Amino acid sequence: MLLRGIISTSHPSLLLKPSAAPPRNATAITSKYSISDEDLQSRGFFFRRTISDLNLDHLNSVFVAVGFPRRDPQKIKIALEHTNSLLWIEHKKSEKPVAFARATGDGVFNAIIWDVVVDPSYQGIGLGKAVMERLMEELLEKGIINIALYSEPRVLGFYRPLGFVSDPDGIKGMVYSRKQKKKK
Ligand SMILES: CC(C)(COP(=O)(O)OP(=O)(O)OC[C@H]1O[C@@H](n2cnc3c(N)ncnc32)[C@H](O)[C@@H]1OP(=O)(O)O)[C@@H](O)C(=O)NCCC(=O)NCCS
Repeated sequence: MLLRGIISTSHPSLLLKPSAAPPRNATAITSKYSISDEDLQSRGFFFRRTISDLNLDHLNSVFVAVGFPRRDPQKIKIALEHTNSLLWIEHKKSEKPVAFARATGDGVFNAIIWDVVVDPSYQGIGLGKAVMERLMEELLEKGIINIALYSEPRVLGFYRPLGFVSDPDGIKGMVYSRKQKKKK
């Protein structure tokens, strides 16, 4: 089942930042997150917002480990170059990406979040939520009012506390997907 959640800034749980924004210093920014950047750093996890240090083969391995199809790294590179906002977490010890999420969109009104993944070895310790909170804040700071995503049914409970709702006001997401040819 493919579901789409659409949210708007009027949803109270999405107001991660008060409208009168505090000065941009680290303490002010991180204090409202479920896990602060400092906490994560002390545990060896570092946020990254560019693809310059991102090993796409390692990222692909995380995709495959969570059950996504393995994709052509060249195509992943093109997709990431056309991505408006992305966030990943590097585990310093292994120097590998362990969590990732990205958003495409028009930069003003709408964004769609894709490829939210956490390496199975690192799931359940708050990394997925940490990535989503920061990605959403970045989008909201740009003034984007609709943030949508496709959720597998088993993950709805992860997205709901972040403010996402299914079929808001009865609106149904519709998708045209070209079927992938099966490899022989
Ligand atoms: C879904 C996913 C990104 C969650 O990442 P994670 O790091 O394991 O999640 P977190 O540890 O940050 O969990 C944050 C909260 O969500 C809850 N949660 C996590 N996965 C959940 C799920 N599948 N269903 C319901 N709640 C879930 C946690 O219990 C936690 O709750 P709390 O804040 O009350 O403690 C991760 O499990 C994953 O990569 N899954 C496979 C890929 C996938 O399905 N991606 C989504 C594509 S639609």
